[in-house]
Amino acid sequence: MTDYSVREELKPGDLDGISAAQINDHWGLYVGYVNQSNALRKELAELRAQGKTGSLAYADRRRRFGFEYNGMVLHEYYFAQLKPGVTVEQAPGFKAAILEQFGTFEAWHEDLMSAAKSRGIGWAICYYDGTTGQINNHFIQLHEDGNVGGFVPLVIVDVFEHAYMVDWKALGRADYLAAIHKNMNWSIVEARYQAAKSGQIFKRF
Ligand SMILES: [Fe+2]
Repeated sequence: MTDYSVREELKPGDLDGISAAQINDHWGLYVGYVNQSNALRKELAELRAQGKTGSLAYADRRRRFGFEYNGMVLHEYYFAQLKPGVTVEQAPGFKAAILEQFGTFEAWHEDLMSAAKSRGIGWAICYYDGTTGQINNHFIQLHEDGNVGGFVPLVIVDVFEHAYMVDWKALGRADYLAAIHKNMNWSIVEARYQAAKSGQIFKRF
């Protein structure tokens, strides 16, 4: 087994309206998910080696897999996608697909934001279904409840309070979402969309 590593190259810098302190705090949590994913795999391997796959400890660690792994992976998509000064015009293929399906860009965005304002902590994710070519916005509770198997994430918004507590406090989700919109790296959204549309995988890093 090769351990997962913290992908320093994905750490955003110089964002428009989101402080370095906020990103640093959030980054620390991402590092925790990487470490916990590695630790979980080791613990499971040790329990298997001891013949304890029927134990409560093994069952409990298994349940944590989805939480820690999605916590790691979704943060990698999220941080890679934060960059100031990129307009949606730099995602022409994605935008065309949105217009075809939702009528206007604003209608799609409003739908994503309605998912992002769901009560509770989790993620708003715009997914591409490679089988039908449809684009759907979903709310994911925590990190693992609601991800659709095989769908490709195109736009990912963290709506855990930890994503905005430093800059906006607990009631600041709407302000945070406005800041996220200003810092959306539409170029990477386009790259994810084009890869997914042609049946390829756009790697997280
Ligand atoms: Fe987060």
